Amino acid sequence: MDAAVTDTSFGHFENAEQIAFWNGAGGERWVARRAEIDAMLVPVQEALLERAAIQTGERVLDIGCGCGATMIAAAEKVGAAGHVLGLDVSAAMLTAAHELAPADAPVSFVQGDAMVHHFKAASADLVLSRLGVMYFANPVRAVLNIRNALRSEGRVAFACWGELRDNPWALEPLQAAYDHVPKLPGLRPHAPDDFAFGAAEWIEKVLTDAGLRRVRLERCDVALDLAAGAGLEGAVQTALAIGPAGRAVAGQPSEAAAAATAAVGKALARYAKGQGVMVPAAFWIVTAVDP
Ligand SMILES: C[S@@+](CC[C@H](N)C(=O)[O-])C[C@H]1O[C@@H](n2cnc3c(N)ncnc32)[C@H](O)[C@@H]1O
Repeated sequence: MDAAVTDTSFGHFENAEQIAFWNGAGGERWVARRAEIDAMLVPVQEALLERAAIQTGERVLDIGCGCGATMIAAAEKVGAAGHVLGLDVSAAMLTAAHELAPADAPVSFVQGDAMVHHFKAASADLVLSRLGVMYFANPVRAVLNIRNALRSEGRVAFACWGELRDNPWALEPLQAAYDHVPKLPGLRPHAPDDFAFGAAEWIEKVLTDAGLRRVRLERCDVALDLAAGAGLEGAVQTALAIGPAGRAVAGQPSEAAAAATAAVGKALARYAKGQGVMVPAAFWIVTAVDP
């Protein structure tokens, strides 16, 4: 990636906070733990790719592609006759995706805000996303904009987290951290956040209000290995890298941060099995069609 991609003025001002987060601490933490996070998210990715039913030669658009694991897997499925475009706001994550992609993979990358990016009309058969669609200030506007990229009868397939209360991998570290650090500011309902698409009715409303049809949701309850085989310490690092506990701990005085980190370890210890730390998680696989 060249220096130009560090300019963040491409986005909508209402998404500025998220764009700053993913170009700052959020993106840095994710890039640093990329391999472990990708290993943890294998069950999410497998469920998503199965429902997405990608065909050889298809043109795929990955929204919020991050460090690229899902788009690279999609590129293997579309083959040389197809193409996968990864769009993300985060320069650091796009750089990581670029580095991860095999040189001959049919992929390209663009830095942009999915809510306002000027997509080439009817350029995609499938819009795909692993956990990259929950961060829009105005999700209906974002989906309407993303639809510009889809051809008629094009498909949408994405994974998003269920409610925070159904995701102990995120909730329990957060509650443990709160014994030592201040609570995160409350969010207005449906504000951009990892769990903004937790409620089925909200997902259905957003997608149908934005004109998508045949909206289907499948709830998946799994145990994710937060440690990615690297033991309890690895699980703590990943919980702090991608979960809300990391946002609560970031920037706190070192003594409080250390106590919170130790508390996260204590909370996760009961899920340890050998070198794995298998913590319950709930996510949705959502599919829809553009009429
Ligand atoms: C939870 S991460 C998921 C990344 C990747 N899909 C994965 O599963 O590894 C969310 C991603 O959405 C991106 N994102 C957030 N807001 C966005 C927006 N308005 N437009 C495009 N991407 C966005 C972030 O930069 C980040 O890479």
